[in-house]
Amino acid sequence: MTAPLIDPFARAITYLRVSVTDRCDFRCVYCMAENMTFLPKKDLLSLEELDRMCTTFIGMGVEKLRITGGEPLVRRGIISFFQKMSRHLESGALKELTLTTNGSQLGKYAQDLFDAGVRRVNVSLDTLDEEKFKQVTRWGRLQQVLEGIDTALSVGLKVKINAVALKGFNEPELAAITKWCGERGMDLTWIEVMPMGDMGDYDRIGQYWSLKEVRAAYEDHYTVTDLAERTGGPARYVRLEDTGQKIGFITPLSHNFCESCNRVRLTCTGQLYMCLGQEDMADLRAPLRADETDTTQLEEAIRAAINLKPKGHDFDYSRQKVDGQMSRHMSHTGG
Ligand code: GTP
Ligand code: 5AD
Ligand code: SF4
Repeated sequence: MTAPLIDPFARAITYLRVSVTDRCDFRCVYCMAENMTFLPKKDLLSLEELDRMCTTFIGMGVEKLRITGGEPLVRRGIISFFQKMSRHLESGALKELTLTTNGSQLGKYAQDLFDAGVRRVNVSLDTLDEEKFKQVTRWGRLQQVLEGIDTALSVGLKVKINAVALKGFNEPELAAITKWCGERGMDLTWIEVMPMGDMGDYDRIGQYWSLKEVRAAYEDHYTVTDLAERTGGPARYVRLEDTGQKIGFITPLSHNFCESCNRVRLTCTGQLYMCLGQEDMADLRAPLRADETDTTQLEEAIRAAINLKPKGHDFDYSRQKVDGQMSRHMSHTGG
């Protein structure tokens, strides 16, 4: 391994999130406009290029690789990519190979993912109500996702549910979602809705539900204890003493967690974003393509990019209202 990646604030970069496609079979209201235009497929890095890119990062100390999108499982050939990456698990260089998915294709691919060395998946699910699921995802079918989750659990994958906290939408379901996750032994993480991408008429600010309020809602019904443990992601966890369940909170707006940031994100077109909430980025596609047999230029470009990593994001609805939203879509950068 070459020298580890350390950013200007002495944070070691060990977690790479890779968006393998900006496409998705859903159209969640806070993530995409219904008539979203996608990148031409020819602009995406090929699977072979993604392999070379990830392998280079792993050689530079990345230990956790999370495949995202869009919906990663709609990318053609993606299972062969997971199979290729499993060699880094076997060598011990990579500690975790995982993905964040909407669950629609898990029924089909859960076993293949497990066989490729994936042990844990994060599934995005904001409601257990069929009608509301249709409202929030526009195109999704709840039953298909629930079956996908069941398949994932039955093949031995650990499943974590990510729910975006939406005021007046899944607020009344807090207890029901918590109970449903508990019964299946699944951790649950709540996420504050972030101002990314233009969503047309959708009132994202109006639906913002601070996780301080979500926590208070838990405290009304359960005994809540803070946990020190982290999973290498941005979530902070509590335990509900009454049920023993672990609940995570990802609070980009109400409580900035950037001081312990360990991650960077690669877009499906080969740009490296140093922070989800900032525009600092570096093009890695050109150095990747400069020489197919030697990654020296790519390594230099990665090191130069990490030197640009900002101290933190500055999502802020009060200011965003004045300045406009961040135009980049979550699906391009990988969430
Ligand atoms: P674990 O490995 O289970 O801890 O997962 P994770 O939280 O790292 O990954 P996941 O894809 O489940 O992330 C959930 C959501 O958290 C993402 O889609 C983002 O919305 C948000 N998130 C993750 N990392 C960051 C970050 O660095 N900054 C901000 N603002 N949000 C983040
Ligand atoms: N704010 C917060 N979370 C979002 N996600 C997508 N768009 C947003 C947003 N604007 C979530 C999805 C999924 C993860 C990949 O990102 O629900 O859990
Ligand atoms: Fe697709 Fe996830 Fe965006 Fe929903 S939030 S449209 S499932 S990428």
